[in-house]
Amino acid sequence: MKTLFSILAAVTSFAALAQPEIPYREYEPLDQYEPHVSGDLKLSGSYQYWKDPAKLDYRMAGNPDENWKLNWKFMDPPFNQAVHGGHFALDRGEKLFKQLDAHHRFAVCLGAKKGKLKHLRAGYPRWRDDLKHVAGLEEAIEYCGARQGRVLQNGSYDNSAISLYLASLGNGQPIAIDVAKGPLKEAFERGRHLFHTRVGAFNFSCSSCHTHNIGKRLRGNVITTPYGDAAHYPVYRTQFVLQSLHLRFAECNLDTRTQPLLPGSQPYTDLEVFMTALTNGYPISVPAERDW
Ligand code: HEC
Repeated sequence: MKTLFSILAAVTSFAALAQPEIPYREYEPLDQYEPHVSGDLKLSGSYQYWKDPAKLDYRMAGNPDENWKLNWKFMDPPFNQAVHGGHFALDRGEKLFKQLDAHHRFAVCLGAKKGKLKHLRAGYPRWRDDLKHVAGLEEAIEYCGARQGRVLQNGSYDNSAISLYLASLGNGQPIAIDVAKGPLKEAFERGRHLFHTRVGAFNFSCSSCHTHNIGKRLRGNVITTPYGDAAHYPVYRTQFVLQSLHLRFAECNLDTRTQPLLPGSQPYTDLEVFMTALTNGYPISVPAERDW
């Protein structure tokens, strides 16, 4: 018995020694983003210029080339009113949704109250009792599809097409997630930290670009603020991709030589919560088209 104990003690102390060390991390200074429930309109400071689309004046930014400052991102040039790939994705999403919702089980599973879909997109990411964690709309689509035996992998064209269709039903609705308490607040805080954590071969954090280098050019692109993005996703990109927000995170990770994560992974969902809270108050506007 005594030997058994000493073997056990040896094994546990070895296990303690073998504990991986928490890697050293560098952070950008943490910016104070207050989790606003009713909108970040004061924070982004540009709402006054774009709240009335009819009166939108790009020159408000001081220079037409700098109209991205208005954070009216879904109108960033080249905005194309005409048919683009996003419209085809929308049709596909509608068709798939109607098949899946033939018995109204899909909408209920996604969390639509009394089958009403208008407010669904504006309230995601949200806590899901069945998954026991905070999930984005695309994760919910994958999960609810699986319950009917359909494979709708998060990040796939069909998954994003359904997400786009559901977002389109809420066009004009302001994004409104409540990150003031509970699991969403925790996710927001984790997302805020991730946003400022330096990673990858270039040792960049999201905020290295999206807070500290906004307005600067990076190859053909002008780096924009983190406000308002979530309201026009999934986005159609002219490189023929329907891109979900998580795929955009993966693209920014790849651009900075950082190992991308899977769509639906917890860190990406946390980042989504963070960026969606910074989009609170912005009207949903899809299908949007973006340059590569
Ligand atoms: C090397 C600079 C750089 C880093 C680091 C970076 N991005 Fe980006 N990101 C860009 C550029 C450039 C674009 C395209 C122009 C734009 O919309 O800002 C972009 C676009 C985006 C967009 C889409 C904006 C839109 O309106 O369509 C999101 C969302 C985004 N980045 C999130 C992130 C997140 C989250 C991280 C950290 C994981 C990150 N980015 C890291 C440079 C960067």
